[in-house]
Amino acid sequence: MHALECEQLTKVYRSGIRNKREIRALQEVSIAVESGQIFSLLGPNGAGKTTFVKILLSLTHPTGGRALVLDRPVTESRVRRRVGYLPENHRFPAYLTGEQVMMSFGSLAGVHRSALSGRIDQLLTLVGMQEWRKVKVRKYSKGMMQRLGLAQALVNDPELVFLDEPTDGVDPVGRKEIRDVLRNLREQGKTIFLNSHLLSEVELVSDRVAILDKGKLLKVGTVEELTTTESSYTIGCQGPLPDALRTEADARVLGVTFSAEGVVAHVADPAALNAVIDLLRKHGVLITSVTPQRSTLEESFINLIKREIPS
Ligand SMILES: Nc1ncnc2c1ncn2[C@@H]1O[C@H](COP(=O)(O)OP(=O)(O)OP(=O)(O)O)[C@@H](O)[C@H]1O
Ligand SMILES: [Mg+2]
Repeated sequence: MHALECEQLTKVYRSGIRNKREIRALQEVSIAVESGQIFSLLGPNGAGKTTFVKILLSLTHPTGGRALVLDRPVTESRVRRRVGYLPENHRFPAYLTGEQVMMSFGSLAGVHRSALSGRIDQLLTLVGMQEWRKVKVRKYSKGMMQRLGLAQALVNDPELVFLDEPTDGVDPVGRKEIRDVLRNLREQGKTIFLNSHLLSEVELVSDRVAILDKGKLLKVGTVEELTTTESSYTIGCQGPLPDALRTEADARVLGVTFSAEGVVAHVADPAALNAVIDLLRKHGVLITSVTPQRSTLEESFINLIKREIPS
């Protein structure tokens, strides 16, 4: 089952005199997220990530396309009771304590009073904020605000939760704790939709990742799919490589580099990879492995975004 599904979502913001200035925040974006997964939407500033989430929460309306959340149209108000949301740059009233914030958001979300206090206990423990529940939020650090925000997003025990930059301003220890909370929520069968710039974070927790830039969806896949390149392979070889092989590889301008582990082949297609393998075999080299090279998510992301910049 899909926790959310959208097809050809487009959002154009209009401003200026007679709405003449147009910003294409989303351009025909189609995404499906399976239930029980952590799905991350990555993109540079202004890519359209927050706009996407706001449409799925019906906080803004799309210019085109359609979207379903938990199999219901996003405009249906009842479905929002089953969804949680941590907005980016959220602010809670400074004069409230953490507990009071949770109480007021819980009541707003329609959580029954009898269930609320137990739920608040459980959530503040989950995010490691129990000791701070009676302290006013004006005394909270940024990381503590984010943790309280996360607890707030879960107050109605949602099936699907949207988190817009949940680790923004949180230190490495806090980020690890938030990752653990997200994994814990996934184990409970919840679906998590994460907006983030923090690629190394996303790499650690996401089941699937989508990359968005200037409103366009560039790629969707598992972290492994996004970080495995088909253009570079490490070919493991046994024993020293003959000099004649090196000379011939250079002469034939095969894109290979030699290292202690063997040969790295930079190839345009499988035929080119096979040409390198043929050459190695011709020179009597014993091949022990052929593995596609992995890059980090950050490298793949930067390469994808760079390709989009017109020269
Ligand atoms: N209410 C609005 N009116 C006009 N333009 C808007 C509005 N909200 C967003 N935009 C524009 O739409 C584009 C996408 O913005 P959005 O906030 O969705 O990006 P984002 O990926 O969340 O960025 P960030 O990483 O900085 O949070 C930007 O060019 C932004 O200036
Ligand atoms: Mg944003």
